[in-house]
Amino acid sequence: MRTRPFCLTALLSAVLVLLTAPVAFGHIKIYPTESTLGAREKYTMRVPNEKKSPTIRVEGEFPPGLDVYDFEFKPGWKIDFKKDDKGKIVGAVWTGRIEPYEFVEFGMLAINPKEGPKEAPKGTADGSSDASQPAVNSGQVSMLWKFHQYYEDGTKEEFTAPPDAKMPLLPMPLVILKPATKSSAAAADPAKPSAANAAANAAANTATANTSHNASPGIASADLVTKGKARFAAYQCSDCHGDNGEGTVDAPALIATKLGAEQIAKFLNKPSSDARVKGMPDIPPDSADLQPLVAYILSLKK
Ligand code: HEC
Repeated sequence: MRTRPFCLTALLSAVLVLLTAPVAFGHIKIYPTESTLGAREKYTMRVPNEKKSPTIRVEGEFPPGLDVYDFEFKPGWKIDFKKDDKGKIVGAVWTGRIEPYEFVEFGMLAINPKEGPKEAPKGTADGSSDASQPAVNSGQVSMLWKFHQYYEDGTKEEFTAPPDAKMPLLPMPLVILKPATKSSAAAADPAKPSAANAAANAAANTATANTSHNASPGIASADLVTKGKARFAAYQCSDCHGDNGEGTVDAPALIATKLGAEQIAKFLNKPSSDARVKGMPDIPPDSADLQPLVAYILSLKK
């Protein structure tokens, strides 16, 4: 009888350890755990190995809507991409080796979705409860990553359970996306498509002022803009930047660009490595399409 309070305490702390320890150690994690809707982010996947057998492979499925476009090179590791039927990277397989009690971190560059999924992602492994569904609180979006960790002894661990799952279930890493601050949200806010055409015409005068020192004097700027709009469609710039330059998950809005005529021309001559990695074409300085494209992009600016 005397020992009962002690037993209770001991029992309670044992329970606490059981509840908290598995969450804190030995799990594949993604950092940072919080980011901004629509933002570019570098995510780091941390893969620990606390088994007695080496890890030989990690398979990941990225959260729906997240656009992972670049992977950190790790000596000794090979990365294969999983793509959907549209060619978008939806997951990856890292093949290499992590010895027992070591961990490895892999970086990934990604563009966060601008908004939460229209429908909840399917296929949470155990089919359990609402806890696995992304909570959409006050504009926040939860992104869940799924991982499978394979060991040399033939065993594997599946991080496919809801983030609050208890052992022996392993939680999916969770990243919370918060809305951008007001000013950046306003800048990224896509114009209504119908307004963009009107803006293209209305802004044609501005475009004249900005490009006249480059444009051949004979060509009226409204024509340049019209031609640029056609070239924009022909080059499929719209695939990434949206039909009216309003931006997509693949590329920023051009209607919000801060670049002037010359900077736009330079960017088109030599797109940033980010843009090139994603597949943005370059328009050489001597291309007849350069000035029309520049004029069109300028016409999109408000
Ligand atoms: C495959 C996707 C893709 C295509 C196609 C594409 N772009 Fe881009 N573009 C990007 C990405 C990604 C960026 C942002 C790069 C960065 O932030 O470094 C970008 C940036 C730009 C910028 C700079 C915007 C700024 O404010 O910094 C301009 C201008 C631009 N693109 C114009 C075009 C034009 C014109 C075309 C068609 C000839 C085109 N892009 C086609 C992906 C694409």
